[in-house]
Amino acid sequence: MSGFVEKPEPVEVPGLVHLHTGKVRDLYQNEAGDLVMVASDRISAYDWVLPTEIPDKGRVLTQLSLWWFDQLADLVPNHVLSTTLPEGAPADWQGRTLVCKSLEMAPVECVARGYLTGSGLVEYEESRTVCGLALPPGLVNGSELPAAIFTPATKAAVGDHDENVSYEEVARLVGPETAAELRQTTLAVYSRALDVARERGLILADTKFEFGHDAEGTLILADEVLTPDSSRYWPADEWEPGRAQPSFDKQFVRDWLTSDASGWDRHAEQPPPALPEEVVTRTRAKYIEAYERLTGVSWG
Ligand SMILES: Nc1ncnc2c1ncn2[C@@H]1O[C@H](COP(=O)(O)OP(=O)(O)O)[C@@H](O)[C@H]1O
Ligand SMILES: [Mg+2]
Repeated sequence: MSGFVEKPEPVEVPGLVHLHTGKVRDLYQNEAGDLVMVASDRISAYDWVLPTEIPDKGRVLTQLSLWWFDQLADLVPNHVLSTTLPEGAPADWQGRTLVCKSLEMAPVECVARGYLTGSGLVEYEESRTVCGLALPPGLVNGSELPAAIFTPATKAAVGDHDENVSYEEVARLVGPETAAELRQTTLAVYSRALDVARERGLILADTKFEFGHDAEGTLILADEVLTPDSSRYWPADEWEPGRAQPSFDKQFVRDWLTSDASGWDRHAEQPPPALPEEVVTRTRAKYIEAYERLTGVSWG
């Protein structure tokens, strides 16, 4: 089992048509035909959208994405049109709502990895490859790769795992020209972001981008970018290959859910329980810490 523990009802706003309730974001279309993307405080783990929210998460991740879009603006155009709240929208959408170009999304999660961990490590241990790419022997959890690699995945529906695919599969899905453009842009943006993060004492181990084409056929960077939900950041001074690295994401949530304290068996047919206050507080602090370390600006 997986999915939403409690699926939220969309907020109704005159002039906006609700399109989709994603795991974390709600999508609307405005009268101009643009996409209105509203980031919620929802958090997902183990393919579940949990019944507990992390206060301010939506605003922190929206502001962090905006900051990154700016850092990358010379490399790739992005989908943000405006941060102005649509007329009639609830005041609490402020800071977590982006009006974006509505794009024809490429059906590929564009992942770049400079370090080996997660699903990459699992595949490496089975076949010494990641997404079919051969890697040198002797790498361990957290190893730096000889060069960053493009390891695409196909996007799953809510509650399903994304599936790593080969570059050839991407070329079949989107055509060889778009595939090449996705790979090249993903690696260029990752390389820039790696440098920016490193200056701030963080290792950007891997990240996921989503791209789409606009009406003119231009490739545009979309979705959220380089947030702890889409990326693995590790404190550089604690990096030690050969073990799991401390990270700036949902680690407290995952650790608690899989501990005896939660009483939850993720392999049983049951939804996860509500998070305790302490896990919520520590997780919120982690998201804010990531924002502050990257942007150099204190939160609120
Ligand atoms: N500019 C855009 N045009 C169209 N769709 C977009 C754009 N940017 C992001 N999206 C889509 O909006 C959704 C964002 O909501 P999210 O909560 O991340 O949903 P999901 O559960 O599908 O990951 C994603 O499905 C993403 O592909
Ligand atoms: Mg998403």
